[in-house]
Amino acid sequence: MDKYVIHGGESLKGSVRISGSKNAALPLMVASLLTDGDVILHNVPHLIDVEVLIKLLSRLGKSITFKGHTVHIREIGVKKIEAPYELVKKMRASVIVLGPLLARHKHCRVSLPGGCAFGPRPIDLHIKGLSKLGAKIKIDHGYIDARVSQLRGASMILAGKYGSSVLATDNVLMAAALAKGTTVIETAALEPECVELMRMLVKMGASIDGIGTSVVRIKGVKKLTGVEYTIIPDRIEAGTFLAAALATRGNVTITDCEPEHLMSVLEIIAGMGAVVKIGRTEIEIKQHKALKAFSAKAMPYPLFPTDLQAPFTSLACTVSGVSTIAEGIYPDRFTHVAELGRMGATIDVEGNTALVHGGKKLVGCDVQASDLRNGAALVVAGLCASNTTSVHRIYHIDRGYDKFEEKLTALGASIEREKDSIL
Ligand code: UD1
Repeated sequence: MDKYVIHGGESLKGSVRISGSKNAALPLMVASLLTDGDVILHNVPHLIDVEVLIKLLSRLGKSITFKGHTVHIREIGVKKIEAPYELVKKMRASVIVLGPLLARHKHCRVSLPGGCAFGPRPIDLHIKGLSKLGAKIKIDHGYIDARVSQLRGASMILAGKYGSSVLATDNVLMAAALAKGTTVIETAALEPECVELMRMLVKMGASIDGIGTSVVRIKGVKKLTGVEYTIIPDRIEAGTFLAAALATRGNVTITDCEPEHLMSVLEIIAGMGAVVKIGRTEIEIKQHKALKAFSAKAMPYPLFPTDLQAPFTSLACTVSGVSTIAEGIYPDRFTHVAELGRMGATIDVEGNTALVHGGKKLVGCDVQASDLRNGAALVVAGLCASNTTSVHRIYHIDRGYDKFEEKLTALGASIEREKDSIL
């Protein structure tokens, strides 16, 4: 296991290129299961989650090469239609192989993903949506066993008490693309990564109306073809670098990003008093002598993303006054709070809201990541803390940040990856 050793206190300076989006790359790679044609994806980030998915797709009959940032997926013959526990437990998103496997092979078994560090993470909406399309689903020895003789289009509302579900929308979209008849998903997720999946499916020959709106109509087709497609920039990686730039009071330009996907984040940053210059694919952050406390509530897109809630909590620690950070998607997603407390942060969590009493310098110490985004938050905290911060269990961070320490080092941070003896 590795850890990060961070000597905090350097203001980040310079420019950083944003990688392709993890949450777009994963479903777009999975969509290759819908066709026997070649799927070529550009701008794919180098991440542990992508490696895990490559292993899973290889078990499902695909041969994959990953050169530079291009993934080439070819079909070599499907032998087994099972997503095993040892891969699904490493990456919950694996559950979206259900829809395409069912559509192509009429039967599949996918390990139940289970909970995660910040809550139960149910999959009832995935099961509801696929059942509506005619799938017979049972839970058997920790596996979802799904069968169907013919998927048939249906209308459905795919939302739970916290709103629409990104991966359930993906799962149903992929199954519906090859179903007989028309499927209508009311309350489809609006996240850009979900919209990208729809756009790529259309390029593969799917018939989808209402892309980018919450009501999506999918008219099933008999066959989908191969495709060549470029992955959008990672808005969460971009937001993490913005948080790190502000937390260290740096001057940073993020390049190759999609500012349109970050509007809710940029609004908060502008409200804090930072000077933000927005270009077509660049965002520059500077002049922020007296940043103000802020309020943010994590909600489905286009509102503030839950995946930036933890890094922005670290940022709030550096700003005088009380910032209010609420979580409207995963009410228990506050595992970073105790670790930030070890660094001297004063944060009260009341229900689904963190009240951050900021402005006191954080002090480096040993902290431990327990999920991807709380790991990123601890790095942001370490970058602006005094002394040395050791962030343990950074395999969580490797799941979702491409060349994180290299990019931060290029911006002037002192951060090193070391072997960790604390397991
Ligand atoms: C995706 C993202 C994740 C992000 C999340 C919310 C990927 C690979 N992951 O995860 O980074 O944090 O969207 O933006 O794209 N829910 C149910 N039943 C279900 C499914 C979800 O109740 O069957 C609930 C969840 O517990 C949560 C809410 O719906 O409260 C939204 O979760 P969802 O959009 O499904 O998250 P994921 O798609 O798993």
